[in-house]
Amino acid sequence: MKRVSGVAAVMLGACVLMGAADGSWLKRVPAGDKAKVNPLAGQKEAAEAGEHLYEEACSRCHGKQAEGKGNRPTLISERMKTTTDGELAWLLRNGNSWKGMPSWSVMPDGERWQLVAYMRSINTPATAAGIAVEARKSDGAGQ
Ligand code: HEC
Repeated sequence: MKRVSGVAAVMLGACVLMGAADGSWLKRVPAGDKAKVNPLAGQKEAAEAGEHLYEEACSRCHGKQAEGKGNRPTLISERMKTTTDGELAWLLRNGNSWKGMPSWSVMPDGERWQLVAYMRSINTPATAAGIAVEARKSDGAGQ
């Protein structure tokens, strides 16, 4: 009995460690990285290319519509709206492997910026790219 509760305690501990994404990675981003600006910012084609990359590399964890799955957070959120492009690029390059977010350092810089452009577009639907993404989403609704 003792043994069983020990196992349960270890499992509970693991759940807490792997627990909800709390954005604590943001504290580790150096100021220089935080201030970086996406060279592709505002380019509709970049956001669209980023969407394809997202489908290939990210949707299995973060969900087809970036809605999140379990401890993998949604990528449409208040936190995402307030991050800088540089912070997102930093996370993609470094990952947060301890919490289960892989590093994408092998991906070319340009592709990581395309992903940042895509994430920006789905968090600011007022931009043209955001509207295009939103429209495609509602086309796909109910499938
Ligand atoms: C193996 C699963 C997995 C894959 C694949 C993955 N992620 Fe993640 N991602 C995670 C987890 C888990 C977290 C939470 C990490 C944390 O809390 O620090 C996360 C966190 C993030 C965050 C921070 C969100 C926030 O609110 O703090 C962003 C941005 C992100 N991922 C983007 C991406 C992108 C873009 C891709 C594709 C290139 C991707 N992820 C692929 C698992 C994954």
